[in-house]
Formats: sequence, structure tokens, C-alpha cells
Amino acid sequence: MPVVDLRSDTLTRPTPAMREAMVAALVGDDVYGEDPTVNELEARVADLLGHEAGLFTPTGSMANVLGVRLLVEPGQELLCDSLAHVVRAELGAHATVSGVTTRTWDAQLPGRPVGLLDPEQALSMMVPDGGPYLVSTGAVAVENTHNFGGGTVQPLSALRRLRRGTAAEGVAVHVDGARLWNAHVADGVPLHEYGALADTVSVCLSKGLGAPVGSVLVAGAERIARARVWRKRLGGGMRQVGILAAAGLYALDHHVQRLSDDHARALRLAAACALVAPGLVDPGTTRTNIVVLDLRGSGLIAGPLAQASAQQGVAVSALGRNTLRAVTHLDVDDAGIERACAVLPAVLARAIDTVA
Ligand SMILES: Cc1ncc(COP(=O)(O)O)c(C=O)c1O
Repeated sequence: MPVVDLRSDTLTRPTPAMREAMVAALVGDDVYGEDPTVNELEARVADLLGHEAGLFTPTGSMANVLGVRLLVEPGQELLCDSLAHVVRAELGAHATVSGVTTRTWDAQLPGRPVGLLDPEQALSMMVPDGGPYLVSTGAVAVENTHNFGGGTVQPLSALRRLRRGTAAEGVAVHVDGARLWNAHVADGVPLHEYGALADTVSVCLSKGLGAPVGSVLVAGAERIARARVWRKRLGGGMRQVGILAAAGLYALDHHVQRLSDDHARALRLAAACALVAPGLVDPGTTRTNIVVLDLRGSGLIAGPLAQASAQQGVAVSALGRNTLRAVTHLDVDDAGIERACAVLPAVLARAIDTVA
């Protein structure tokens, strides 16, 4: 029986129809700006998010690096939460590439969904002009949905408050929207409303949307022209890459609305786990495609649990010692989630019995 692989939504393989679209793509040299399919993708994503221009990048990490590079000068700081991908999982890129320091607010506050933005908290940390003593804040980064938080959707009201407060002080906003599509589908918020509340937005095509590669950074035209230079400087100038952009265009046409299926399956899994281990996950906060089990204080350790589950054909991720993550995606169907709903809770129940 094939493994039900819930380690990440990056694991999806292009569907046969997506592959057909890739084969048929018109291409040109994108470093010359002459790949019609890349140009179409960039314009389409920029339009969806209500920005002037877009830039295709190989990865979400590069799109974030470019976005932050545009908004934060070397020696300035980026504010974000303590579990943000930009600070935890981009391997110090913002420091090494852009000379940017990061300062974080706590993503795990009691009584709140993990990773949920508290705009007042973020605004209270800003130092718009640190003068000769303090590091000045160039931008605030918000992750929507929040990956390590468990797919947390940032409410539009919080994003609006953040935008008002930052704009009043001349501080920029970058949205890491690797899974902004999921937020859009979960809350029904038009993408351009999210776009209007940020200076730069990165979105991924290779997560829930199922493309093999690629992200797009959107911003104003002048900023994207600068980002194009930085992309080349970082070795991200690609040539006949329309073959990959075509997968992104296909995904935008066919794989956005179906994300609600992933969300429903994640909720089923969260509910099944909560039945045996109510302290580890609250299905009330499972709104998109990520289920995070928070093992702190339970005596359970993520690594052995992930191993036990994988041995029974359901692969999940151990993120450090205390966090187990399961992510639903295009390649996990109802039968797969049913199996996960049988295996993972049983693994948890056995482990809880052992530590009790
Ligand atoms: C929230 C978030 N931002 C950015 C990225 C980076 O994407 P990539 O793996 O394409 O660099 C990821 C990857 O999982 C992510 O979850």
C-alpha cells in the first residue's frame, strides 16, 4: 500500500494535465524578459493581488529574500513572529544576503491560535527611526497562512490595523503568502484585498497549488525592476522557464478552489487526533490544510511518533522535539485521510499510554 505522505504540501507531483500544459508552453529567454509564459504568469499574479508587477522566482525563500531586500536597508530590522518562516527556515538569508536583523514577537501566546497576528503587539515593537542608538524598523513581515502555526489564517481586520499603524510611521509590510491561496479560500477574502495591505507579497505555486516549482513576488513596478536585478545577482535569472510558469498558470486555473477539499480533510484529521489527545490540537483552530500537534508539556517527543506513524504508512513531519505536523494536499484523497485518521490517533494513544 502506498504511503500517505502528509509531511508537506510541497510533495505534490504535477498532474498529467499540468504536464501537458508545461509541454505546450511557449518559451523565450526570461533574463531578456522574452518568455511569454513567464510574462503572462507575472502579470496574472500581480493583477490578482492588485499590484503593478510580478517577478517569477525559483522558490518562496527567494521571493521572501527579494521582498525583504526591497523594503529593509542593511543595518535595519525586520519584525516578525517567532515561528515565521522568514526567521526560522530561511537559514539566515535575510542576514547574510541583505544585512538585515530580525526581532520577533511571541507566536505562541496562551489562549490564541499559534501564529495569529496581534497587530498591537507588532506595532508596539516598531522603531521607525532609531537614530544613532537603536536599530530602525524597515518592515513588518506577516505570514498568511501561518505554516508552523498550523495553517492559521490572518484576519483581514488585523491586517488592516497593521497596515494603518505601519503606514502612519513609514514602516513597510511584507506578506509571506506562500499559502495565501489557502487563506483566500478559507475566509473568502479576495486576493486583491490582501494585496492592498502590503508593499510586497510573495506567493508560492509549489505548495497547495501543486506546481513543481516557483513563486511570484508582487510589488510596485519600480520595486520589481530592482528585484529583477537582485534575482539575477543571486543566481535566479532563468532562461526558457515558461515551461515551469505554465504549471503555475495551470494551477491558478484548476487548483485554487479545490483547496477547500484539503481544508476539510485536515479538519477531519485534527478532529480524529483531538478525540484521543484533546490537549495536543484544537480542531477549532484547524482552518486550512495544516494540522500541528503541540506536544509541549505532554511528555511526548515528535521524532519517535513520526517514525511510528511512518512505519504504519502515514508520514508526518517532526518539526523539532515538540511539534508534529501533518499537511493535506493534492495527492492525498479521502481514502488517504481515512487511513491517516486511523493510524495517527492510534499512534498517539499508544504513546500517551506509555508516558502515563
Ligand atoms: C510560509 C512559507 N514561506 C516560505 C516558504 C519557502 O518556500 P520554498 O521552499 O519554495 O523556498 C515556505 C516553504 O515551505 C513556507 O512554508
